Amino acid sequence: MTRRFLFLLGSSRSEGNTEVLARKAAEQLAEDVEQEWISLADHPLPAFVDVRQDDALPPAPTGNAALLLDATLAATDLVIASPLYWYSVSAHTKRYLDEWENWLRTPGLDFKARMAERTLWGVTSLHHEEHEVAEPLIGTLNNSAAYFGMRFGGVLLGRGGRIDDVLDDTAALTRAKSFFAQNPPTARFPHQAA
Ligand SMILES: Cc1cc2nc3c(=O)[nH]c(=O)nc-3n(C[C@H](O)[C@H](O)[C@H](O)COP(=O)(O)O)c2cc1C
Repeated sequence: MTRRFLFLLGSSRSEGNTEVLARKAAEQLAEDVEQEWISLADHPLPAFVDVRQDDALPPAPTGNAALLLDATLAATDLVIASPLYWYSVSAHTKRYLDEWENWLRTPGLDFKARMAERTLWGVTSLHHEEHEVAEPLIGTLNNSAAYFGMRFGGVLLGRGGRIDDVLDDTAALTRAKSFFAQNPPTARFPHQAA
């Protein structure tokens, strides 16, 4: 089966450090691996409205939600490339993740089972030197993957402040070279850790 990587860019600026780092990692993908890159800022989603208590069905995906749903289901590998904003994912990224709740409840989509066939990866950049401060972002992605039974490749981290600062983070650039070469295991919640 042809692998297809969907890169979801969550920064509020274009060509930021997170995107640069993700592109460095993507350079190592084999020629026959398909790539799609979508900027979430260029495809904004409305704020999530929770209608579950009314037993109402979620709105049928239209516009950017439909585009993102199609791209998600077309991919074998989903790469959340979000900068660290207040220790977690950016708001653009969070709205995309919130949309998964609607897709879970959309009749006929079988979203949960289809997601279980996919691999989730993360790429982030942050200003802080200590990577531990990104634990909330890493936990968000790990636990979301665990919820769906997806494989999780972890999060590639790099240091960034001004545009292109990440190019000075040689350790991150080295990690980028082999990041997508892993064969990640199925994600587990922390309480399931062996
Ligand atoms: C709204 C906002 C919140 C941020 N929060 C954090 C943070 O919690 N921790 C951190 O280390 N850096 C934080 N930063 C710095 C960014 O993570 C850093 O500049 C990153 O490289 C931006 O990614 P980008 O270049 O891909 O846009 C924040 C920046 C912004 C704009």
